[in-house]
Amino acid sequence: MSISQIARSIGESATLKLNETAAVLRAKGEPVIHLGGGEPKSKTPIDALTAAAAMLDSGEVRYTPADGTRAMKKAVIRYTEEFYGHKVEPENVMASGGAKQAIMVCLHAILNPQDEVIFPAPYWVSYPEMVKLCGAVPVPVLSEDGSFYPRIKEIEEKMTSYTKAVIINSPNNPSGVMYSEQFIAEIVELCEKRGLYLIMDDIYHRLIFDGRKPISCYKYAKDLSESSKLVVINGVSKQYAMTGFRIGWAVANKKLCEVMTNVQSHQTSGPSSLLQHAAVAAINGVQSSVEALRLTLENNRNVMAQQLESFEGVKLTVPDGTFYCFADFSVYGKDSTKLAQLLLDKVRVVTVPGVEFGMEGHLRLSTCGTIKDITQGVERMKWALDPNSPNELYLGDRKLVRDWM
Ligand SMILES: Cc1ncc(COP(=O)(O)O)c(C=O)c1O
Repeated sequence: MSISQIARSIGESATLKLNETAAVLRAKGEPVIHLGGGEPKSKTPIDALTAAAAMLDSGEVRYTPADGTRAMKKAVIRYTEEFYGHKVEPENVMASGGAKQAIMVCLHAILNPQDEVIFPAPYWVSYPEMVKLCGAVPVPVLSEDGSFYPRIKEIEEKMTSYTKAVIINSPNNPSGVMYSEQFIAEIVELCEKRGLYLIMDDIYHRLIFDGRKPISCYKYAKDLSESSKLVVINGVSKQYAMTGFRIGWAVANKKLCEVMTNVQSHQTSGPSSLLQHAAVAAINGVQSSVEALRLTLENNRNVMAQQLESFEGVKLTVPDGTFYCFADFSVYGKDSTKLAQLLLDKVRVVTVPGVEFGMEGHLRLSTCGTIKDITQGVERMKWALDPNSPNELYLGDRKLVRDWM
């Protein structure tokens, strides 16, 4: 079989594969605890459900403009004004099939083969593969001190004449850390100075804790004209727990939006009319579900942090937002893939290996589930890894005996 060079360079999505593995095991009746997930468990906001139901009822579910419906653009314009204090026009907005597609279309619109795209590590698993899909080169930046807080100097040192864009995801998947105002101000300034695109992946920007407020990158931009290379990505997946609706968007200069729309029009013709309709209702509707989700996630983060604190040898940078904890398990093995496999095989706990996010020795643990998932999941992990724990454990009525240490 003849497969393209680009396609051959792309790995499968580790997180989607884990979801599949967990589903197969569950279907076989295995008592799986899924700490690998990347979606909130709360219900779709009622406004979105009723809007979608009404459209279905009408029987009129048609193509929309490739860059999104007028109502969708209006909702994004209002959202951008409310959460970023920044006014944009309909031509500055492109709706897409999730934030993921908005980023992919943006990269297709700006990258030539061999261009370089810089992003701090740990990074979202899809960035390197998306960059490679454009024939371009991903350039992750690992902080020398091993922290999750990137330094401007370290990013600047990676910039070459091939650098085309920087991607910043704050709060960050997988680490949960939110970069400081100062960092955002400096990265905006640096990209402006160098004439680089700055893609702000803000998909988690409202899911932040301890009284933090979302940061608006526009506040620090000197150039807010139509030549600005700032691209802000967002969507309904995380904040409204609408992952299955697949609606996201990009806000960018008009020329770039036009080019992105051309790309998207030939890829998918644009996002689904039905699902945009639901997304608009969520964005414009009652916002209490977002705050309820944020509070639940903050509480879950606290419980997970407490559980991990008592886990011998495990180190955690307490997350400022998102629904992930990215803990250092290197005392139990540097190879995170092996470690995650052991946890799945022996105690049926799903975690995501840190290597997928560019950092070995770590595991990403999701806090999207219930408190019981978190406490029992970590308890099973402790039992599997900590040699001081008792030799036996019961999963339901199944007795496990630790025979691998
Ligand atoms: C950092 C980051 N960006 C983008 C996305 C994609 O979001 P969407 O579901 O809107 O495509 C995700 C989803 O996991 C993510 O973690």
